Amino acid sequence: MQRLGVLTSGGDASGMNSCIRAVVRKAIYHGIEVIGIKRGYSGFIEADMGPMNLGSVADIIHRGGTILHTARSKRFMTPEGRALAMENVDRFGIQGLIVIGGDGSFTGASVFHQEHGIPVIGVPGTIDNDIAGTDYTIGFDTAVNNVVDAINKIRDTATSHERTFVIEVMGRNSGNIALSAGLAGGAESILIPEIAFNLEDICSKLLSGIKRGKLHSIILVAEGAASGIEVGKQIKELTGFDTKVTILGHLQRGGIPSAFDRILAARLGAKAVELLMEGETNKMVGVRSGEVVATSLDEVIGKPSSISQDMYQLAKVLSI
Ligand code: F6P
Repeated sequence: MQRLGVLTSGGDASGMNSCIRAVVRKAIYHGIEVIGIKRGYSGFIEADMGPMNLGSVADIIHRGGTILHTARSKRFMTPEGRALAMENVDRFGIQGLIVIGGDGSFTGASVFHQEHGIPVIGVPGTIDNDIAGTDYTIGFDTAVNNVVDAINKIRDTATSHERTFVIEVMGRNSGNIALSAGLAGGAESILIPEIAFNLEDICSKLLSGIKRGKLHSIILVAEGAASGIEVGKQIKELTGFDTKVTILGHLQRGGIPSAFDRILAARLGAKAVELLMEGETNKMVGVRSGEVVATSLDEVIGKPSSISQDMYQLAKVLSI
C-alpha cells in the first residue's frame, strides 16, 4: 500500500476531523501517502481531491464538522458515476479507500469494491449510532451531550413557567440519541421508533406527576418515532397543559467533539489504515465491548441497529 484515499460522506458528525487526522498521521507514519477527497463521493467523481500532509490535519482534532466536506451523491449510486470515480482512482494512484460515514456511504463503498476491485474500509461516522457491528459511531456521544445541554437549559425555563416541553431529536430511524439523552437528561417519557408508545399513558403519567408537585415535564421524541409538533398538539389537547415544542435539529450535529468521540475516532481511523496495510477489504472498523474490531460490510449494511432495552426500562423506572 503506497497511497490511500479518504473521504467523509453523509451527514457530518463531530469527531470526523479527529478521524481524518488519525488516518492521515497513521498512514504517513507508515510511509503511505494520503489523498483527501472532498465532498464525499461527489468529489470522488469530480476529481476534487489532492494530497494531504501532516500540516493538512494540524489544529483540527477539536473541530466539529469535516474539513473534507461531505455530501450525499446520487451520481455515485449509478454505475456511470462509479466508473468516473474509478478513473480518478487510476489517475491519482489510489490503492485503497477509507470511507467515514454511515450505512448509505458503506453501501456505495461496498458496491464500488465489488465492481472495481479497489480495497475499501468503512469507519462509522454518524450521530445516529445506527450501525451494526459497533457499539458506538463517531459523533453520537457529542450529539447526545448537545441534547443534554439543551435539556438542561429548557429545564430552567420549563420550571419557571411550570410548562411541559416536547423536545424532538434526530436519529433518523433510530431511537439511540433520544434514549441516551433522555436517560442522561431525566426526561419523563422517551418516544422511540423501536418501542410502541401510547400517548394517553404518557398523559396520565404527566397528570400524576403534576398532582404530586412536579413543576415541569420533559418528553423526548425521536424524529423516527413521531413528529414533535404533533405530539405537543395532542398532549395539549389531552391534558390542557401549557405545552411547548422544541425541535433541536442541526444544533445536535455541530460543536466541539467530546473526548470520547475523539478517542473513538483516533482508534478507528488508525485501525482502518492498518487493515488496508494488511490487505483487508470490504470491512468496517468498530468498537465492541471496548475493543476495536473489524466486521465484514456485508454483515453491517442494511442491518437493523439495536437499542438497549435495559436502558429503556431503567429510564422508565427512574422517571416514575
Ligand atoms: O444521519 C444523520 C442525520 O442528522 C439524521 O439524524 C437526520 O435525520 C439527517 O441526518 C438529517 O439530514 P440533513 O442534514 O440532510 O437534513
